[in-house]
Parts: sequence; C-alpha cells; structure tokens
Amino acid sequence: MVVAIDGPAGVGKSTIAATTAQKIGFYYLNSGNFYRAVTKAVLKAHINQAKEEDIIAVANECNFNIQDNCLYLNGKSVEKVIHTDLIDNRVSFFSTIPEVRDIVNRNLKRISLHRDVVVEGRDIGTVVFPDAEVKIFLDAHIQIRTQRRFEQGISSLSREKIKKTIRSRDHSDKNKPVGSLKKAVDAFYIDTSYLTIDQVCEKVLSEIRKKQK
Ligand code: DC
Repeated sequence: MVVAIDGPAGVGKSTIAATTAQKIGFYYLNSGNFYRAVTKAVLKAHINQAKEEDIIAVANECNFNIQDNCLYLNGKSVEKVIHTDLIDNRVSFFSTIPEVRDIVNRNLKRISLHRDVVVEGRDIGTVVFPDAEVKIFLDAHIQIRTQRRFEQGISSLSREKIKKTIRSRDHSDKNKPVGSLKKAVDAFYIDTSYLTIDQVCEKVLSEIRKKQK
C-alpha cells in the first residue's frame, strides 16, 4: 500500500508521516530530503548553478538509498547535513527543474517497489503516486507554520524572516511548471492548525484503516 502525504513547508508532514509509518510498520520516505540531497551534491560540486544541464548531470550521479529510515547519498548518511538555511534557499530552485524531478521520482518509485510505504512531499498524490490507496493533504495557517519552524530551533533566522521564507517557498511550490503543490482531488484534507500531532496521526491512521478493510 502507498500512503501519500502532501502539504506546504512547515505543516508538520515529516513528523506526521514518520510517526504514522512507525505506528503501522510501513517504510517512510521523505521526498523533500531527496531534493535536499541533490542540492547538497550540487553545492559540493562547485558548478555553475545557472547551468541547468550541469545541475542535471550532478543529479544523475546521485545514488540514493535508505538505511534505518535514513537517506544515504552515494553511500553516506546525509540527513544531518541537508537542513541548513543555505539548502532551504537553493532547493526551491533546483526542485523546479523537470529532469531533477524525474530523477527523484524514479528513485522514490524504485525504493517503494514491493513495499508498504508512507511517502511525503508536495506532488506525491498528484504526480508520483497518482494511484496511491490513501492520499492526505495537510495544511495550516502560515502564522502557525512559522511558529512551528521557529520552535524547531534549526534555523538561525528570526521569526519574521522564517515567515518570509515560508511565504516565498509556498509561492515557488505552488507555481512550479511540473510537480506543483496542490491537493489531489481524491485526497483527504486536514487543517492541522489547531490539532496535536497525535490527533493528526489518528486521522491519518483512520483513513489507512478504512482502506485496509
Ligand atoms: O519538505 P521539504 O521542505 O524538506 O522540501 C524541500 C524542498 O523540496 C522544497 O523546496 C519543496 C521541494 N519538494 C518538491 O518540490 N517536491 C516534493 N515532492 C518534495 C519537496
């Protein structure tokens, strides 16, 4: 079974998707981390970032694997080094390149083959797994998403700057030529603004149980 969870930045997708996957014993895939890993590889390659073909060439050399629920890029665990302000800033651009999206999507499909998975991202229920048995779209007010990101303590930016970044990421996520952020028509919509993580997970699990029956 494929459970697709989509939604904007800072909505709590990773926590909800990882917790849900753990509760039902499904494999967990965070597609945003794949785009972040490509971005990390591009920054490391010191190429001209204005040349799309060079970015695509680096993305093509990326070898993705999951071990113990962590993403490995070319044999190295990258989870701890892909959530920086610099990567936040560049990933919105690199993830607009259709060929980069193809590479990430092919890897997501390869890893999900013959597995029960919870996959999170922006276009999972619309583009990557349009036939997913369960589709969830998470949403929350920008003010609340800003506060959640701020409280994570990962970013060194002020609350106001974080809000600005989220707003600009919303804009680029929604206006990508391919793979833009939108709710699949058959996705279950959850506004998480005033819900706890447990309450959201319970709603997601209830959708999964309905399909498992
Ligand atoms: O979920 P995240 O913030 O870690 O995602 C990182 C970036 O990747 C973000 O700019 C949106 C992009 N992304 C995407 O375009 N498509 C996806 N399925 C997942 C993430």
